[in-house]
Amino acid sequence: MPTNYDWLLLRHTPIRNNGCHIANNQLRLINGHYEIDFDELEGKFNPEAGMMPLPSRARMMILSSPHNPVGRVWTREELIRMGEIVLKNNAVTVSDEIHCELLVKGSTHIPFDSISREFEQCSVICMAPSKAFNLAGLHASSIIIPNDELRSKFVETGDGIVPSVNILGLTAMEASYRNGDEWLEQFLSYMQGNLEFPMQYLREEIPKIKAIKSEGTYLVWLDCRGLGLNPMILRAFMREKARVGFDDGFLFGSSGGGFQRINIALPTFYFGRSTEEDREGCQ
Ligand SMILES: Cc1ncc(COP(=O)(O)O)c(C=O)c1O
Repeated sequence: MPTNYDWLLLRHTPIRNNGCHIANNQLRLINGHYEIDFDELEGKFNPEAGMMPLPSRARMMILSSPHNPVGRVWTREELIRMGEIVLKNNAVTVSDEIHCELLVKGSTHIPFDSISREFEQCSVICMAPSKAFNLAGLHASSIIIPNDELRSKFVETGDGIVPSVNILGLTAMEASYRNGDEWLEQFLSYMQGNLEFPMQYLREEIPKIKAIKSEGTYLVWLDCRGLGLNPMILRAFMREKARVGFDDGFLFGSSGGGFQRINIALPTFYFGRSTEEDREGCQ
């Protein structure tokens, strides 16, 4: 049974197809809270050993903000520390902020490029109404590149590859951003209920599975390592015994082995249906 699942994550990536390497900066799970390992991030730009050439050719940090799958909403201090490392190494930050509207009560999203003029000039911000307004099928997104030179390079390189937005997608995107506030407010309040229910249920009924406290996104990251199953057995167990089809954590990289990701953007009554089955399966 293979124990390193990174090949699953890397198999499809356009980064590798463009002749680049990925230097993965693992998050650290400390007392149930995911944190950035800043020393390791710094080391990705300045490797002392291994196959990476010196000086580093690392040119880009790709940031998921809020983070899918662990649900972190990065604080200003964390963003500043990450960004300063990037700036020091003359690199660019691609900040994927597609989940930015989906905030758990008490969290605030800080757009990476809003931090300072210096940050703005080395940022590529990716946004879309796909998540908050459920419009993934309409293929509409925005990429914000404030720096003229960087933007021209992006436009030139993408010419003929990146399709232009279709009129339905464009209209739906504009309608969501202009008129969707009230809908979004109701959706977020519904999501808050959907988040509290499984957190409480797991705490009380299946304590071997620990839900990581989510700060944003409509995803909940479950630490199932307490069940003592290897990732492939856990996958089979969830589907065949507990009869739920969550996303396997190892799809997000090796350190996700033993974790599962739930999407909680669904009608609340589904939780009631599946939890009885979950509980039986986990005894
Ligand atoms: C962080 C993140 N970025 C990008 C995407 C892709 O979004 P879309 O389906 O709108 O292309 C997803 C989808 O799951 C995502 O979670």
